[in-house]
Amino acid sequence: MMLSVKNLEVSYGKLKAVWGVSLGVWNKEIVGLIGPNGAGKSSIVNSIIGFVKPDKGEIKFEGRDITNLSISSRIKAGISVVPEGRRIFPYLTVEENLLMGAVVGNWNKRREALEFVYNLFPQLRERKRNFASQLSGGEQQMLVIGRALMSRPKMVLIDEPTLGLAPKIVDQVYGIIKTIRDEEGITVLVADQNAEMVLKIADRAYVVENGRIVAEGPSEKLAHDPKIVSTYLGI
Ligand SMILES: Nc1ncnc2c1ncn2[C@@H]1O[C@H](COP(=O)(O)OP(=O)(O)OP(=O)(O)O)[C@@H](O)[C@H]1O
Ligand SMILES: [Mg+2]
Repeated sequence: MMLSVKNLEVSYGKLKAVWGVSLGVWNKEIVGLIGPNGAGKSSIVNSIIGFVKPDKGEIKFEGRDITNLSISSRIKAGISVVPEGRRIFPYLTVEENLLMGAVVGNWNKRREALEFVYNLFPQLRERKRNFASQLSGGEQQMLVIGRALMSRPKMVLIDEPTLGLAPKIVDQVYGIIKTIRDEEGITVLVADQNAEMVLKIADRAYVVENGRIVAEGPSEKLAHDPKIVSTYLGI
């Protein structure tokens, strides 16, 4: 297991949002976290990267207990995150936005990371001197994914990457997520309300409801589970 989460519990004041969640991700897998609004997906993702401090539980990355590490130490260990909300720095250029994600110190490494991202997203190279605010929604999502890749992670956590985007752009963003894994070998944990899209590209998925995992399995299997179909794939 590259990432393992055991008995995770998260609360905000008196509200308990995550109730004993356990999950695992193997090296080079794409794993989905699906479930409705408020289910606890972001709370899980944010605990893994360290934005949120869990009440209980253990998080291991490549065998090492990272539960109490700082965010920057987790990034150094090889985890990166694309947080929910597609937050860019609108009045910085595309390139400046990307450089914000470079935690590696020296300029050569930053250049290398920029090249890596530009090769993956030629559109970002073309627009590197534009303000981020001038990009379309889909390009902004590309930018935040690119920014997360600037730390050259082994694993990337992607939270709600397609909320509010047009269907064609949703396909494009998921295409990018698949490329990151298929061509770069980066492990992906993706949280999204869009179960249909997640189950199309993920190897496996976990279904989160009310802070608990209520179903899990290979995407293929979940996509044919009558209960999942009626709740999440409702056609
Ligand atoms: N910072 C916070 N302070 C207080 N309550 C929070 C906070 N973040 C999340 N919650 C609450 O915790 C619960 C789980 O929320 P979370 O954001 O983890 O769900 P989610 O599955 O990511 O939802 P969405 O699909 O809308 O992104 C919800 O009841 C939410 O209102
Ligand atoms: Mg969320």
